Formats: sequence, C-alpha cells, structure tokens
Amino acid sequence: MSDNPQNNRFGAGSAASNGSLASRIGASFFQRKSDSTATQNRPAPTFNRTTNTAQTSAFGSTANRSASTLSQRVAQNGNAIASVMRKTSQPNRAQFTPSTYPGITNLAIASQKAGYDSVSARNPDIQPTTQDRLQVQSRTVSDMQYQRFAKYIEDQSGIVLGDNKHYLVNSRLSSLLLRFKVATIDELINRAMQPNIYKDISSAVIDAMTTNETLWFRDTYPYLALKNIILPELARSGKTPVRIWSAACSSGQEPYSIAMIVQEQATNMVHVDPNQCQIIGTDISPEMLDRCRFAHYDNHALARGLSAERKAKFFKPTKDPNVMRVDDKIKQMVTFKQMNLLGSYSLLGRFDVIFCRNVLIYFSNEVKSQILNKFALCLNPGGYLILGSSESIQGLSDKYEMVRCNPGLAYRLK
Ligand SMILES: C[S@@+](CC[C@H](N)C(=O)[O-])C[C@H]1O[C@@H](n2cnc3c(N)ncnc32)[C@H](O)[C@@H]1O
Repeated sequence: MSDNPQNNRFGAGSAASNGSLASRIGASFFQRKSDSTATQNRPAPTFNRTTNTAQTSAFGSTANRSASTLSQRVAQNGNAIASVMRKTSQPNRAQFTPSTYPGITNLAIASQKAGYDSVSARNPDIQPTTQDRLQVQSRTVSDMQYQRFAKYIEDQSGIVLGDNKHYLVNSRLSSLLLRFKVATIDELINRAMQPNIYKDISSAVIDAMTTNETLWFRDTYPYLALKNIILPELARSGKTPVRIWSAACSSGQEPYSIAMIVQEQATNMVHVDPNQCQIIGTDISPEMLDRCRFAHYDNHALARGLSAERKAKFFKPTKDPNVMRVDDKIKQMVTFKQMNLLGSYSLLGRFDVIFCRNVLIYFSNEVKSQILNKFALCLNPGGYLILGSSESIQGLSDKYEMVRCNPGLAYRLK
C-alpha cells in the first residue's frame, strides 16, 4: 500500500488507463466503522480505480449509465465543489485532475474529503443502482471463511478478531461488496487474501477492519505530561530537533494535538522551539492518512475534545460553515507516512517521544511485546513512550521504567 495519495483513491493517471468512465464512476458508499466521529461514520463515495474484468463480470449495470448524462450532472453540481477544492486543498491536488473529466475528479475528491454524503446525495449517477444491489448475494461470512480471514487479518495487521466476531466482519465488509462488485463476503475475502492480484480489495479490507476512533487531546493527561514534564526536559537538554512520533494516528487528531501543545508551550520561559520540532504521524490506513493530510474537520469532529479557545486559535474557516481546516502553522509541523506497526521502523529514525495510543489493545501479547521492544530501539536515550489509558507494558517489555506524571503515567527508556 502506498502513502502517496496519487496512488490510492483519487484517480491518478489517464481515463483510459483507469477503465471506462462508467466503470470509474462505479462508486459506492462505504460505511466507515465504529468511529463515533460523525465524519467517519458517514458514507463516503469512492471511485473504484482498478476495475478489472473479473470484478465487473457479475455487475454490468454501471455501464448503463450515460457518460454524457454524468458529465452534465457534474457540470451542474461539480463546479461549485471544484472551486471550493481549488481554494482549500494543497497545491499538488491539481495534479489528480485528468484533463478529460476534470469536473468528475474534482467531484470525487470533494465528496470524499469535504462533503462526504452531501455530494453523492445530489448525484444519483454516482450511487449504486438497484441492479448493483441485487447482485449482492450474501452479506454473511461462512464459519470456515471467518476462521481463515481472522488468521489472515492477524498476520497482516496484528488485529486479533477472536472466535466469534462474525457480525463485525459482516458489518465492516458488506459495503465493500458494492464498491468492488463482488457478490458474497466469502468471495471478497478470497480476493482480499490474494493481494498480488487484488491489491485494492486487499488494502480496503484491512482498512475496513481497523478501528479509527479518535479525538482531540484524548484523555488530557498525556498532553499535560508533554507540556509540563517532557518538553521542558527536552528544552533544558538543548536537543534539536525534537522528534515526536504519533504511531497509529488515525485521522490526525493526535499528531495535530501534539503540534498545538508544542505551539502553546512556546510562550513558556523554557520551551522547545516549534520550528525545531518534527512530528510524524503514521497509520496502516491510507484512507486515514488522506484525511490527516487534508486536515479538514467537520463540526462533529471539532466538538470532540477541542476547546473553543483552541478551535479559534488553531483552525481556519472554509467555505463550508460546517468544516474547518487546521491552520498552516500547525499543519506544517506534522508529516504523515503509511506504516504497518508489524513492519520495520528503521527508516523513521530516532525519536524523543512516541505516542502509541489505543492500538496495542487490538493485538496479541506476543505482538504487543515485539512492538514495545521495537519502539525501544528507535527511542533516543531517556526517550518517552506514551500508551493509551487502558494499555500497559506490564509483562511485555523490560526496556522502560514507569514515570508517574500526576495525572497519568509515561514510560521512559531505561
Ligand atoms: C483507535 S485508533 C487510535 C488513534 C489515536 N492513536 C488515538 O488514540 O486516538 C487505532 C488506529 O490504529 C491503526 N492501526 C491498526 N492496526 C495497525 C497496524 N498494524 N499498523 C499501524 N496502524 C494500525 C488504525 O488504522 C487506527 O487508525
């Protein structure tokens, strides 16, 4: 899976290389799972970029849609959104627009990233047809396939499903049936388990099985510890640059909260210079990383953990009154990279602080232990590890000592 946004959801390359227009518009809704943020629960239309014959054979219906009708609709509805996108997205977003269907691509980007359901609601052509829906034959995983899938997901991502989470698999994967035009969940799983042939399905299935719940300044105490203990200690040591890793950063609230703390402590007598602070957010999910980089958050997401004062200080309005974007001063402090915690961290360099919160809970003890020991290898001497409030290193790693921060605790490399 690539962390380059050009290579994932937004239709890089020419129209010809992406299949027919109709098949490219074979978009469906996918229900983002579990997250209580409304942003992530909303169905978002996505473009299936790599339609292949095997995937389309059972689903011919998208071809019935007329390209000219679609172009007209995009002309009617897409232009306003496209103009918003030009104003609010990063400069290099322009390169995603194939000259043949500029309105359509802008519509896709806009609907994916900014308005989510509002665009698709006004554009029946990018919604699945009744015929598409009828092609779905089974939304229920068989017992045998569940066992194979549980093992596969654990091998790929570390996530332990347990013996009896059939309902979770059904609910998370159902929406992918329409998106990838596959008739049954069992068949979707078959394809997901062949990443060499069905790379996009495989990536989307792993993505769908992750839980992306997050909020600003989650649990408060890690950010107090950062501001009152860890950053002053680093400032006194004179170390530059200070490097902080948000491992499993979901949609960006954690690394951007860290950046806000670094900005806020810059008025203290002893402080880390924000210009000398590098924050890196990583996640397994390309979709979450796209959201991180876009850094637009709707009112529901903004209401979770963010004070009015911080909202006014660190966010800028957009043309959509329900959406704000992270101020460039904060945004430029953070870079994002796709990374699987099961893999190697050697290319990331060394860090002074690692936030790895609310992801180890999904892994087995063996995997937790491996990850904690790998973190130890990329922490600078005396570096800190901050875990989620229900997570601990007890019985998993002897590389850290516990530091009471009152409130909360952190782990320091021995
Ligand atoms: C519940 S969120 C936690 C977000 C944030 N750290 C917080 O505490 O608010 C868990 C994140 O872990 C990511 N994740 C799950 N398995 C992963 C893996 N093997 N490697 C990297 N990220 C992973 C998911 O994509 C998800 O965004």
